[in-house]
Amino acid sequence: MIGLLQNMTSRYAPWESRLYDAVIAPAVVRFMSSLPYDLVSELPRDARVLDVGCGGGQILASLAEQRPDLKLVGLDLSPEQIRRATKRTSRFGVELRRGSALELPFDDESFDAVYSCASIKHWPDPPRGLSECARVLRPEGRIAIVETDRGCHLPDAACFVGQWRLPAPLRPLALAMFRTWVAGQSPDLAEADAMLEALPLSERSVQRITGTPALLMLGVKG
Ligand SMILES: C[S@@+](CC[C@H](N)C(=O)[O-])C[C@H]1O[C@@H](n2cnc3c(N)ncnc32)[C@H](O)[C@@H]1O
Repeated sequence: MIGLLQNMTSRYAPWESRLYDAVIAPAVVRFMSSLPYDLVSELPRDARVLDVGCGGGQILASLAEQRPDLKLVGLDLSPEQIRRATKRTSRFGVELRRGSALELPFDDESFDAVYSCASIKHWPDPPRGLSECARVLRPEGRIAIVETDRGCHLPDAACFVGQWRLPAPLRPLALAMFRTWVAGQSPDLAEADAMLEALPLSERSVQRITGTPALLMLGVKG
């Protein structure tokens, strides 16, 4: 019943995925709206792009609206999230797969870009998941990983939680939970940097996303 609260790497229960989808995901998409688009803006027509831990497919749907030519693929561990993403993206022809970031069910070098938003903190072995992301990326392909920054600033966290679809009296509690349970189990800048360094990537960078409690890891394969 309280799987995720006890263990961040357990699979989202149906009620947890429903809660995330309704309360938090709209704020994530608003805060990150330009991010996947920045990643794919220079990709050629028909490029293939993977979203690892796609959740209910909000980012995929937004990307499909901006770049209908792309071949978008989403993967998530939770069947409930995949069901929701399928419904949300059905008119865009997005391919959705259930599976784990630690064992991506795709061929080597089969994507032009790979991104993941707010998922890596849930992976039981983040370096292994990142190495899978790099494996499926073609040479010169780009990777972008967004996650909560354990060292995020309180005003940025408060601003983000302020966008959650919650009654205002619940926000102080939500902010405390976000800072301890979510951010507390997420990487900080140095850890993110070390994880990237282990990958066969050039143009590596790790940075805070200004005005948000998130960090961004970037790299180019090869
Ligand atoms: C916080 S949600 C983020 C969803 C979406 N990316 C977004 O930004 O709105 C995290 C997602 O990661 C998925 N997830 C957790 N562990 C995973 C794993 N090992 N492999 C793939 N997806 C995973 C969860 O099922 C959940 O949908």
